[in-house]
Amino acid sequence: MDKEVEPFCRALPKVELHAHLNGSISVATMERLIARKPHLNIKHSMTAIHKGQRRTLDECFQVFKVIHQLVDSEEDLLMAAKAVIREFSEDGVRYLELRSTPRVETNTGLTKRKYVETVIEAIRQCKQEDVDIDVRFLVAVDRRNGPEVAMETVKLAEDYMLSSEGIVVGMDLSGDPMVGHGKDLLPALQKARNCGLKLALHMSEVPCQKEESELLLTLPPDRIGHGTFLHPEVGGSWSLVHKVREGNIPLELCLTSNIMGKTVESYEKHHFPYWYKLGHPCVLCTDDKGVFSTSLSQEYQLAASTFGLDQEALWILSQQAISCSFAPEAIKQQLEKRWAEHPLQLTYSQDSGAKRK
Ligand code: IMP
Ligand code: ZN
Repeated sequence: MDKEVEPFCRALPKVELHAHLNGSISVATMERLIARKPHLNIKHSMTAIHKGQRRTLDECFQVFKVIHQLVDSEEDLLMAAKAVIREFSEDGVRYLELRSTPRVETNTGLTKRKYVETVIEAIRQCKQEDVDIDVRFLVAVDRRNGPEVAMETVKLAEDYMLSSEGIVVGMDLSGDPMVGHGKDLLPALQKARNCGLKLALHMSEVPCQKEESELLLTLPPDRIGHGTFLHPEVGGSWSLVHKVREGNIPLELCLTSNIMGKTVESYEKHHFPYWYKLGHPCVLCTDDKGVFSTSLSQEYQLAASTFGLDQEALWILSQQAISCSFAPEAIKQQLEKRWAEHPLQLTYSQDSGAKRK
């Protein structure tokens, strides 16, 4: 592998569009959280999957349950969210869409409203502290919790979309893909769409969701998370591919997460090249950088080494992610300018005759 690829990926300005807050908590922050709650007797091995290890999706969802025990108060949430934002910034992420599921914790008095407000507060504080990153918030619907909770969550997201000065921009649909059915959540998602919230939906993360994906595509979503089993070579269908292509719906692709969660057999067998070769918008993302012990820079490196992408291809991937974001147009333009003026881009322009422009 090109030995310069690692520093290049770190230096590359990046856009992260698929990051679950509680799955993105680093080992260092986890240590602080564990120290705050020694009575829980939680070990590090229970909050992250280390390099080379693999777990079933079911086991991954057990990990989130443990993490939720550690992040159960406003104070924990604020600390964890600020640390996650700082770490993404330190990794060269300049635009981040963080997603998280509002939770009630009766022990600490955490309500869903306080939950959303605390994440917004963390984003505001990072901005005041000049952390070099623009952060937006996608309020998540956990599919396990059914249609009523989904509808409540949409209402919450709508309220904060109107009052958070552009921080809340959309909604995510996530949670254990083996539980619940998208058809029950369709009215809530439709409502979200009608009130102007953008939709980033986990779709076809497991093989048995063909019918559900057909249904969700009727919304249609603004972005698709994973989409692992959409194409016919893995049991999906041409009709699904056609709809995704026709709508030019970007895919959020998380290599390490899919390997560690065993939905994809190996990096070589990942669906990234299927869509990339079609020229479809693909955005590399981390999913859960804490749980899966990765970073966005590492994901770019993995894509480079596995699929033979050169530095120019990596640059284009990171730049194209800007247009797939839910940022307001003015912010997209600022980001485009920032990319264009970035020292790496200037080096490129000299070396390769500004091919990218
Ligand atoms: P939180 O929403 O900030 O608490 O982040 C953790 C939650 O994100 C989990 O409980 C799941 O609902 C969701 N999540 C994280 N990774 C995945 C995934 O790969 N597929 C589906 N849902 C996920
Ligand atoms: Zn996800």
